[in-house]
Amino acid sequence: GVIIDDQPLLADPIVRYIGDCIGIVVAETEYSAYNLSKQVRITYSEQTPYLSIDDSKTARENFIHESNIACSHQVLKGNIEQGFQSASTIVEAEFTTPFQEHYYLEPQGCIAIPGNGEITIYGSLQCPYYIQKAISRMLGLPYNKVRVIQTPTGGAFGGKEDIPSEVCARAALAASKLNIPIKTVYQRVDDIVVTSKRHPFKMKYKVGVNSSRKLCAAEILLEENAGAYATLSSVVSYRSAMQAMGPYITPNIKVKSNSYYTNLPPTGAFRGFGSPQATFGHERMMDIVAEKIGMDPVEFRLRNILKPGFETQTGHLLEQSVGAEKTVTQAAAAAGWNDTRRKQKLDDRYLKGIGIAACHYGNCLGAAGWHMDGSGALVQIQRDGNINVSYGLVDMGQGAITVITQMTAEALGIHPDRITVLPTDSSKVPDSGPSVASRNVIMTGNAIRDAVKKLIPDLKSAAADLLGCDQKNIEFVNDKATNKESGDSVPFTQLAEYLYAHKSKTESSGWWHVPSLDYDPEMGLGEAYFTYSYGTQVAAVSVDTLTGIVKVEHVWAAHDVGRAINPAGIEGQIEGGVVQGAGWALSENFILKAAEIKTTNLSTYLLPTTVDSPDIHTIIIEEPEKEGPWGAKGVGEPSIIPTAAAVVNAVCDAVGHQFTSIPLVPEHVLDVIDERKTREQ
Ligand code: MOS
Repeated sequence: GVIIDDQPLLADPIVRYIGDCIGIVVAETEYSAYNLSKQVRITYSEQTPYLSIDDSKTARENFIHESNIACSHQVLKGNIEQGFQSASTIVEAEFTTPFQEHYYLEPQGCIAIPGNGEITIYGSLQCPYYIQKAISRMLGLPYNKVRVIQTPTGGAFGGKEDIPSEVCARAALAASKLNIPIKTVYQRVDDIVVTSKRHPFKMKYKVGVNSSRKLCAAEILLEENAGAYATLSSVVSYRSAMQAMGPYITPNIKVKSNSYYTNLPPTGAFRGFGSPQATFGHERMMDIVAEKIGMDPVEFRLRNILKPGFETQTGHLLEQSVGAEKTVTQAAAAAGWNDTRRKQKLDDRYLKGIGIAACHYGNCLGAAGWHMDGSGALVQIQRDGNINVSYGLVDMGQGAITVITQMTAEALGIHPDRITVLPTDSSKVPDSGPSVASRNVIMTGNAIRDAVKKLIPDLKSAAADLLGCDQKNIEFVNDKATNKESGDSVPFTQLAEYLYAHKSKTESSGWWHVPSLDYDPEMGLGEAYFTYSYGTQVAAVSVDTLTGIVKVEHVWAAHDVGRAINPAGIEGQIEGGVVQGAGWALSENFILKAAEIKTTNLSTYLLPTTVDSPDIHTIIIEEPEKEGPWGAKGVGEPSIIPTAAAVVNAVCDAVGHQFTSIPLVPEHVLDVIDERKTREQ
């Protein structure tokens, strides 16, 4: 277990879910390994499993671990009783959200190579340092005898944050026992059965608004199905608690967030860490309240939206980089909200609807993970003026390598073609934590700036020597050093050669840690994160009343990214997030029969494809963050967070029914439509 020490490498003697690892079969071919595995006979004595949140929390004995509660967090701000007393309208509702399978492009896989008392791992992963720590502990090897190198990874979405620690540790165990290289690659079906998922949530919201239509109180209970092991549950529970009421000014609030162990697959990190679930809660709620008080959903959101000078729900006073309002107004304007809303003509078969959802997302690990929220980079100038950059986070398909190339080029004033970003390697850069929480651009960007800052004096001195001028007149732009006064310049290649010829410094490591946070963990009050990204999405849907199929036609996605380092990359992230969020909302129906997963491949677990994807209109909003590199904030997770809520709000608008759970599979939608038709006849 990466945070809570609850997960043995090999289950013994208790198997807690179908998929727990009880042993390792090693063979020369996959085929013979499979045949050997069929000869293993296991005898179990069975106990009654706990499958649901309710089963787990009402249990009084036979706990799955020391107790059935994996973790909990709370926020207590203001005076909730007085808050509700000042309300003119109080609305209560309950919501549920399901499992989601990451379905990353390639399954979990690694190669473990033993030799000279050392182990080297190559793998598809999000955090080499977690794996280094796990293997060091398991084999009793010093850290400098365990080297972990990330191989190009075609998708992870949180599913490769901690899971590769198990995969790689088991391979390392076999490699070290047998002293041969070991390769482990999960088959897709096994990968789905064995690895972590998105937490299913049960949510209870009670929200009060006063006569000026401002939020005055919110009481929220979030309950999470953690599955058999905690994995990243504490991060999910913390983050969903801190963001439970979204980007709205809420003076009095009480949030409880509890994660319960069950005998189901473990649930852990998945793009957004509980935020898509909490956002489904607060954004469905905002629509339900708006309807109740007869106010337009956009107007109601704008009346309550966070702005500079106001506090988040945890009492974090925001002074800068708060683009929430702009994301709402610009997404709504682009969608033509005022023109289309409630003016759709219902034809015979298709109902049209439009829905909006907004979110905020704390960048990086936050107060709960502050101690490990530092990352590094290593910048090396080669003799020919070309550059190698190493970093501690990873590219898993999101475009980190491109952005790191750009940021290094910008920091040094050189052409991006000079730069090669090296594979992430635990031996190159100190423990930089995991590539999660939309922290890559901020952490690595700032680490690169720190590294380059330390190279500048030697580069300036070289340039001043070569140009025969004062160092203070030197600037680095367009691949050369220029004397600002005379206009004379010397190419970067010549500077590099000069550094080598004079045995000057040619490499530098950089480091950045997020600023200190003033946070009270007992009350859940204060600076839960150092900054927040904001996003609003508007979805336009059509609902086929004959089949119940929902088609998402358009999504307008406005995201405050601080500063767009790479607008095309951001567009790509947003398109991916929207499609993944729409899949979770509509078609990804994760089915278990008791504790057994039935949807173990793409024929039954329906990921959206290009034909299911809406036209996605990206709107980039830049409210620079003073701590971000060039003002940048993260967008990897914000891109998925409001999608499901926006889509479901649109379906509710189309059908005239307040849906409270997803996925909105056709059968579910059709039941509601048929029931309405019967009622209206
Ligand atoms: Mo993610 S849930 O930040 O890997």
